[in-house]
Amino acid sequence: MVNDNRTSITELKTFVGQEVTLAGWIYQARSSGKVQFIILRDGTGLCQCVVEKGKIADDLFEKLEHLGQESSLIITGVVRAESRSVGGYELAVTNADVIHATTDYPITPKEHGIDFLLKHRHLHLRSQRQWCIGKIRHTVVDAIRRFFNDNGFTLVDTPILMAAAGEEEQTLFEIDYFGSPLYLTQTGQLHLECAAASFGKVYCFGPTFRAEKSKTRRHLTEFWMVEPEVAFIDLNGLLELAENLVSYIVARVLQDNKAQLETLGADIAGLENIKPPFYRLTYTESVEILTGEKTAKFMAEQLTQLKQQKETIEKRIAELEVEQKGQIKQWKRDKNAAELIALRSDLEEVDTKIENNPKHAQAASEFRWGKDLGGSDETIISQMHDKPVFVTHYPRAAKAFYMKTDLSAVADRGNDKVVLNFDTLAPKGFGEIIGGSVREDNYEILLKRIEEQGLKRESYDWYLDLRKYGSVPHGGFGLGVERTIAWLTGEPHIRQCIAFPRLMDKVYI
Ligand code: 4AD
Repeated sequence: MVNDNRTSITELKTFVGQEVTLAGWIYQARSSGKVQFIILRDGTGLCQCVVEKGKIADDLFEKLEHLGQESSLIITGVVRAESRSVGGYELAVTNADVIHATTDYPITPKEHGIDFLLKHRHLHLRSQRQWCIGKIRHTVVDAIRRFFNDNGFTLVDTPILMAAAGEEEQTLFEIDYFGSPLYLTQTGQLHLECAAASFGKVYCFGPTFRAEKSKTRRHLTEFWMVEPEVAFIDLNGLLELAENLVSYIVARVLQDNKAQLETLGADIAGLENIKPPFYRLTYTESVEILTGEKTAKFMAEQLTQLKQQKETIEKRIAELEVEQKGQIKQWKRDKNAAELIALRSDLEEVDTKIENNPKHAQAASEFRWGKDLGGSDETIISQMHDKPVFVTHYPRAAKAFYMKTDLSAVADRGNDKVVLNFDTLAPKGFGEIIGGSVREDNYEILLKRIEEQGLKRESYDWYLDLRKYGSVPHGGFGLGVERTIAWLTGEPHIRQCIAFPRLMDKVYI
C-alpha cells in the first residue's frame, strides 16, 4: 500500500507540481476510453483524478475503468492547478491501489424518495449535501462551545434521566427505572438554575427529548440544545446574549464553511447581514402585525410569487425531461438527473407553500390575543424580516410555569398578565430557533404557578428552595442546534441537519 506521501484533498494547493497520494472513495467516474475522470472524495473534499491510457499500466487502466461509485482506492499522481476542476486542483494519475471494488451502490444520481434516503442514511451520509451539512454542524457546535467558554461560562452537564417535567408534560418520554417512572430530559434548565447560583454563568449542551406528536419539518423527537443560564440578568441582558451568540455562530460558519454554504445554495449575502441589533417586537405588536392589512397584502403577494416560481420550475423540468429522452453523453445525463432531483424537491416545497399560504393567511387574520404563536404565525413574522426577530412578553397563560410574570403596569392587561420571555425567530421564514425567559424568582408566585398548572409540588421542592435561599433575578434560553443549522444552510427540513434523525414516525438507523 502506497502511503509515504499521503495527503488530503484540502492540502493539495500546497503540493502543486509534486506527486502525492490520496486515499478515498469514488464519488463519480466517467471514461472516454482513452481518459478516465474519477472524482475522488476523501472526507475533506472532492478532487478530479485524470487517468490517461498509456501513462499507467494497461491492466490497471482497465481495472479502474470498471470500478463503481463508492469503490475505495489509494491513488497517486501529480497535482496541477485547474480552475475548471472541482476544488481548483486535479491529479494527473501515475498509480493506484484498489482497496475495495464496489458495484451496485444503491444511491445513484437518479431520484430517490425521502424514505429511501432515510433508510439508507448509513450510506447517504457520504452524499455531498449531507457532508456539507455535517461540516457546518461541526462548526456550529464548536462555535457554541467557544462562545460560552470565552465569555466566562462554566459547562455543567445536566442529567438525561429526569424525575419531573421541565416543559409540557404531554411531551415527556417515560421510561421504566427499576419499576418507577422516570423521563428523558426535555431541558436542562431547571438543574442549570441550581448551578447558576453556584457558578454565576453556566451552560449545558446535549441531546434533548420531546415526545412531540408532530410531523412538521421543525420537529425531531431527539434534538440537540445549548442552554445558558445566568444569575443577575434581566430580559434585555438575555436578548443581548442571544444576539451575540447567534451573530458569532453565523460569523464562524461564514469564515469556516463558505464553500459548503455555496454548494448547498445557502443565502450567503443574507447571512453576512446577521449582526446585532436584531429586531425586537412584543407579542402584542406581533398580534397587531398578524391581524393587520400589511400581512394580508404580504401573503397575497407571496402567493403570486410562489405560483410564478412553480411555473419556472415546471418549465425547466419539462426541458430536462426532453433532453433525457434524447441521445446525450452519460456525464450530461447524470448532471441532468441531479438537477431534476433538486428541481422536483423544490417543486414539492413550492406546492406545499402554495397549499399552506391561504390557510396560514386566514389563521393570521383570525389570531386573537392570548394564544401562543403557532408555527405558521412565526413563519409569517420571520418572512417579513431580514434579520432575526425577538418576540417578547407572551401571555402568561400560554407559557411555562417557570417564566417570570411581568408586574410592570404597562404589561398588565387585567388578568391577562404577560411574562418576561422571548422567542427568537430566524429570518426569511425559518421560524423559532431560541426560546428563553427570565425565571420566576418569587417563591409565592412560583408556587402558585406550579399549583395552577396541576404539577406535583413535591417534584419541585428543590426548585422552590432556590427561591428560599438567596433568590436572585436570573434567566436563560435554549437554542436548538438542528433548527439553527436548517436556517444557516437553507435546508427545508431539520431531519437533514442531524446525522441520524429521530422522527415521530421514522427511526430507521
Ligand atoms: O422553547 P423551548 O421549549 O425552551 C426550553 O426548553 C427552555 N427550557 C430553554 C431554556 O430556557 N433553557 O426549546 C428551545 C429551542 C427551540 O427554540 C427550538 O430551537 C428547539 O429548542 N426545539 C426543538 N428542535 C427540534 N425539535 C423539537 N421537537 C424541538 N423543540 C424545541
